[in-house]
Amino acid sequence: MRIDILTLLPQLLESPFSASILQRAKDKGILDIHLHNIRDYATNKHKNVDDYQYGGGAGMVMAVEPIALLIDQLKGEREYDEIIYMTPDGEVLDQNICNQISLKGNIIILCGHYKGVDERIREHYITREISIGSYVLSGGELAAAVLVDAIGRLIPGVLNDETSALTDSFQDNLLSPPVYTRPPEFRGWKVPEVLLSGDFNKIELWREEQALKRTKARRPDLLGNDE
Ligand code: ADE
Repeated sequence: MRIDILTLLPQLLESPFSASILQRAKDKGILDIHLHNIRDYATNKHKNVDDYQYGGGAGMVMAVEPIALLIDQLKGEREYDEIIYMTPDGEVLDQNICNQISLKGNIIILCGHYKGVDERIREHYITREISIGSYVLSGGELAAAVLVDAIGRLIPGVLNDETSALTDSFQDNLLSPPVYTRPPEFRGWKVPEVLLSGDFNKIELWREEQALKRTKARRPDLLGNDE
């Protein structure tokens, strides 16, 4: 999968993709991330990328031209399956959306700033608008990092058996059950007996019960009823 990220602050996005699973995905050639500085596509002599909004009002708007030039260039080089704009008024990201996007080949992610981008970019280029939650960040970069992390680990071949995404919270609309590792007892705090029993049917049943209990207590909305 190739991801082109369009940003005014590429330096904010250099480290999130340089460690752990995403770095391994890049090393294996499964994930190819390219950062593009929108300012490099400004055509005026001061390299301005934003301007006052028509009609008045507080806050600057990211101008249409540099972003259009950059996207046109990228689209001239290859086909894109999705051009995503990170914005607080987009659809709220969840595991289902991450699963869908992780199956794409090439995507562009546009990070917003200031008051947002000129609406004509949204109308003519953007295919999907995503928010990472009902709060406003100072820019779309951290939201893009969240999206890339969440989809990157789902791309086939990125995770191995130990890190398999199949048992993640949300993957089957359930939260994950509690997990334990050695020692079996610490300060009198014991690991549940069943996990030490070696009876895999019983363990599986226990995990299912715990996942359901946790989901009912913490995220009943995931169960699709009002419990
Ligand atoms: N940009 C600013 N706030 C955001 C949010 N909550 N989600 C996505 N992009 C954003």
